[in-house]
Amino acid sequence: MSTYYVTTPIYYVNSTPHIGTAYTTILADTTARMKRMLGQDAYFLTGTDEHGDKIAKAAAAQGRSPQEFVDEISAQFRKLWPHVYVAPNRFIRTTDPDHYAVVQRILQKLHDQGDMYYGEYEGLYCTGCERFRTEKELVDGKCPDHGTEPERIREANYFFRMSRYQEWWRTYIEQHPDVVRPERYKNEVLGYLREPLEDLCISRPKERLSWGIELPFDRNYVTYVWFDALLNYLSGIGFDGDPKWSDRWNACEHLIGKDIVKPHGIYWPIMLHAAGFPVFQHLTVHGYWNFRDAKISKSSGKPIAVDPLIDLFGADAVRYFLLREMVVGLDASFSIEAMLKRVNSDLANDLGNLFSRVAKLIGDHFEGRIPAAATGNTELESIASSILASAPEWVGEMKWHVLIEETMQLVRATNRYFESSAPWGLVKNDPAAAATVLHNCCESLRIAAVVLHPVMPGKMVELLSRMGEPAQDFRLAEHAKWGLIRTGARMQKGDALFPRLEEGDVRARMSDLFESGTAPAQAPLQNDTPPEEQITIDEFKKIHLRTATVVAAEKLQGSDKLLKLQVDVCGHVRQIIAGIAQYYSPDDMVGRKVIVVANLKPAKLRGEMSEGMLLAVKWDDRLEVLAAPDDTPSGAPIS
Ligand code: MSP
Repeated sequence: MSTYYVTTPIYYVNSTPHIGTAYTTILADTTARMKRMLGQDAYFLTGTDEHGDKIAKAAAAQGRSPQEFVDEISAQFRKLWPHVYVAPNRFIRTTDPDHYAVVQRILQKLHDQGDMYYGEYEGLYCTGCERFRTEKELVDGKCPDHGTEPERIREANYFFRMSRYQEWWRTYIEQHPDVVRPERYKNEVLGYLREPLEDLCISRPKERLSWGIELPFDRNYVTYVWFDALLNYLSGIGFDGDPKWSDRWNACEHLIGKDIVKPHGIYWPIMLHAAGFPVFQHLTVHGYWNFRDAKISKSSGKPIAVDPLIDLFGADAVRYFLLREMVVGLDASFSIEAMLKRVNSDLANDLGNLFSRVAKLIGDHFEGRIPAAATGNTELESIASSILASAPEWVGEMKWHVLIEETMQLVRATNRYFESSAPWGLVKNDPAAAATVLHNCCESLRIAAVVLHPVMPGKMVELLSRMGEPAQDFRLAEHAKWGLIRTGARMQKGDALFPRLEEGDVRARMSDLFESGTAPAQAPLQNDTPPEEQITIDEFKKIHLRTATVVAAEKLQGSDKLLKLQVDVCGHVRQIIAGIAQYYSPDDMVGRKVIVVANLKPAKLRGEMSEGMLLAVKWDDRLEVLAAPDDTPSGAPIS
């Protein structure tokens, strides 16, 4: 059995899991599941990156020890993954003792063979990226990814002679043109290689940062966090003695987001080569999930949490949406509206509804047993066989959106066949013909469920078991072939597999993710709510809250949720689109003294500019706009 090994980046524990980090993890999990269905021995590694400046600072900001802090946040990742069917073979932490030992061993080796030297360095360090940035990489003096000014650091450190291996890596890429993919990211890597590479600073003096892995050859220093973190890919597969280690390493596929191409596309292959290991098979780079045009993340945008989406849509639908919607290599936009639409149309309608209708007719007319067919259906058979033939290639190239779409085409073609054959009418005059149609529909549904099993492991097992297919280790070649449905098996309709979600319910539960001009809803505080993330007074001062007077209001055309308000802030009238139409009529609003976030970046909502945000309080199913005292002038600052 051939081996497959897939990794995700290990996530920094200064942020709890969100849609961005969940995406790579779900992509890796689904791929590992499919590789097993293709007969490979797949190993899937994910985990948390727990050392470094950023983590030490985050722990200190909460007045906690780094260890206590990392234990808590790492556990949040570990707890979340099973909720979304993510099942890694190992969850590695860079604080694990075996990882610690591997890092020290490799450092010692590189040191012994003369790849390290000690020297003084001055540079611009971005804690967000945990790396030095060159002047050229900055935009207006700030890090382009974090929008912060890097810190100038001058200190004596150990350096890894990366420049020695620059030429080797450039030639390697030429000879293995898809080692970094898609193409645009290979070009990014080649771009770095066009300039002379600076040697990599791989240590931090303990007097500045003690939270890290001690250098084996100098106890006054700890290891630079990227050097430590990248080595998880070796330690996480049993570096110290697992007989499967080298097979796994030789089959390694890394998945990363586009923010960390340089460490993975430059530092890592050079570290590997210098230490005497072959490089990975592929480094596959995906784009960002954005929300309202900003990257979903803790530092630059809204970190959309996964659990509330699982509660609302179900884990299978969350996985389906993320994999269907993103084309690996390009950015994708997250919106709750798009998710609702996708889940309702593909899963509730096309797939779930077809299953219910077929199961109902079989229940009503064939004693709940899958009837025999006189003939197959050439169109459906040919779509199914082309999916079977192409699936390994799509999966190898991480084209999950194609695999899903082609499988949904099979489901849609089956719906058309069902509609045009009208088995509900046929049963009366020609039950054998109706039996053929229903049998073929079952066969299509069965194949679609087998193919989509890695994407939606929960619901597809349920669908199959309702057709009398026991849960088992499915194999694509064996189980996705046409003609295997068990005639006579019991078909159970059951409740809707994917209940249709009503927009109103989703809005009520996810109001902060819908387009609206009211402040985002925060989770209500409860006795057991952990302490909220703290911000400094300076950060708070960045938000300009001001009193304002509503001078005109009207309903926004085409929306029953939004009001278009004209508000006066200090003599200047500006427009705010607010999601309050279900609670206030336009007349209720005119003349009110309200509080607005005055320096919010303008955004277009339903085609209309919104230049600010009203403060409102929301609880249960009520909402009340916060009022400023009647006699305050408009534009007065609130502090
Ligand atoms: N700890 C480093 C990685 C070390 S790997 C040896 C790190 N961690 S991170 O927590 O910042 O996670 C980065 C990864 O999370 C990205 O590369 C990507 O895989 C995923 N994503 C985080 N936000 C994302 C989006 N908004 N969109 C898509 N993926 C994103 O960097």
